[in-house]
Amino acid sequence: MKYLIFLILPLLLLPLAANANLPQRGMVVAAQPAAARAGIAMLEKGGNAFDAAAAIALALGVLEPGSSGIGGGGFFLLYIAKAHRYVMIDARETAPKLAGKGEIYKTQSSINGPQSAGVPGLIAGVDRLVSQYGKLGRKQITTPAIRFARHGFAVSPRLKGMLNWRGKVLNDAARRVYLTGDIIRQPALADTLARFAKGGADEFYRGETAGRLVADMKRDGGLIREADLAAYHAVERQPVLFDYQGFHFVSAALPSSGGLTLAHIFGQLKHDDLKSMPKADRDHLLIESMKRAYRDRNRYLGDRDFVHIPADYLDARRLKSLRDSIRMHKTTPSAQLKGFAEPIGASVDTTHFSVIDREGNMVSATLSINYGFGSGYLSPSTGILLNDEMDDFATRPGQPNAYGLVQGKANAVAPGKRMLSSMTPTFVIGPKRTFIVGTPGGSRIISMVMLASIGFMRDETPPADWVSAPRFHHQFLPDVVQYEAGAFSDAVAAELKRRGHQLKQMKRRYGNMQAILLDRNSGHVTGISDPRGEGASVSTR
Ligand code: GLY
Repeated sequence: MKYLIFLILPLLLLPLAANANLPQRGMVVAAQPAAARAGIAMLEKGGNAFDAAAAIALALGVLEPGSSGIGGGGFFLLYIAKAHRYVMIDARETAPKLAGKGEIYKTQSSINGPQSAGVPGLIAGVDRLVSQYGKLGRKQITTPAIRFARHGFAVSPRLKGMLNWRGKVLNDAARRVYLTGDIIRQPALADTLARFAKGGADEFYRGETAGRLVADMKRDGGLIREADLAAYHAVERQPVLFDYQGFHFVSAALPSSGGLTLAHIFGQLKHDDLKSMPKADRDHLLIESMKRAYRDRNRYLGDRDFVHIPADYLDARRLKSLRDSIRMHKTTPSAQLKGFAEPIGASVDTTHFSVIDREGNMVSATLSINYGFGSGYLSPSTGILLNDEMDDFATRPGQPNAYGLVQGKANAVAPGKRMLSSMTPTFVIGPKRTFIVGTPGGSRIISMVMLASIGFMRDETPPADWVSAPRFHHQFLPDVVQYEAGAFSDAVAAELKRRGHQLKQMKRRYGNMQAILLDRNSGHVTGISDPRGEGASVSTR
């Protein structure tokens, strides 16, 4: 597409010499310390960042069963140092054939129960990662996850909270696994992972695991069939690449809306000096540009293998005219912005991790089963907890879904189609430093990555603050600024209100960012794990 070519060029011109020094050590930052250690173990065995990422993805699926797993999908953003190449492995779920145009969701939930599951993509993504880019092979990268699944692990406070919240939607098989004690053991899942170690994605999508999963689905009312699994493939995609005031962004491509929405926001702000302007002006500008970018996101974006994305989506003149429509003294209510009113959902769970190895390879990966504990349906014969990503589609375009949310036709359900995502694994490459970043948090993922990237670019506070600083968000509709306590001083809040913004403080803090900062002059690496979560940074010796 024209705009992508236009955006790609500057990045390809980035001099290789910008990577003056290789990282002094390998590092993993992940939402669970044991998963981070599993990744480091791969690096210490001679594997690379891609082996580590594969092991972490599987381990997180076991250790954080409410957030991601082989019953779900995600996006792996890679930097392959030797080839100086960026690529995104798209392991997003697809709609099963029986979902049709989503008619089923007129009467049944797209959030709870086996019918809410898309065809899982994670195993295909992990298989691609290992076979195409790794060094160690499936057996090694699967070992930690199998161990955690077979021997069990203690329920953490975060997991306990999620079980309190979503426990009531779990099926009997899931209850037996997750709700019967303080140690969670997943023997059926361990067996499924062992079959994958032996037979690869082919076994999962076309072998014994596929047969078992489909038998469970047929018995229990799920929509996934053999043909859906057999047709599933992880896809390599060109990431979204754009420049902003001397910084190069590499971010998630469709079917994630993340990269395009970031490019949209920063495209509007191309000539604004975010560094020097007063905070109230900066926050006002960010809110107004988010509002415009999310409006377009909700209206136009969907799986580009199925829908046409307007050629001028990121056209510089169009973005400039949106910027010109922002009044500094007064907010523009969403209702006054032209465009179909389509709010999007804030899914509550997901996970993220970042990896770097000593060769300079990098991974930023965001993985999900959508809401906490996905569909709540655990396939008894495979131990796989299935996602509820069908709710990320506009299951009833133009009408509110179960949560009162409305999305557009571009993201309507169709067999084989990937549902639009907000997951935004990203690299930001500055003149001297590189920032690997991402987070869970539904529709707020994009604004969290935006705020952390601005922290990195402004560089006026310690790196830990870019991740820990209280956040704010606007997604066009509802027409409110959602914010965490402390995001605005009293004076800034008063000023934003004076300009017409409606501020709504969130009851809880949100997000769980896991980031790495590389100083390319010294090779020094810093891991930053969000204090909101239970994650950790771990490095090689
Ligand atoms: N399931 C959350 C997302 O993909 O945005």
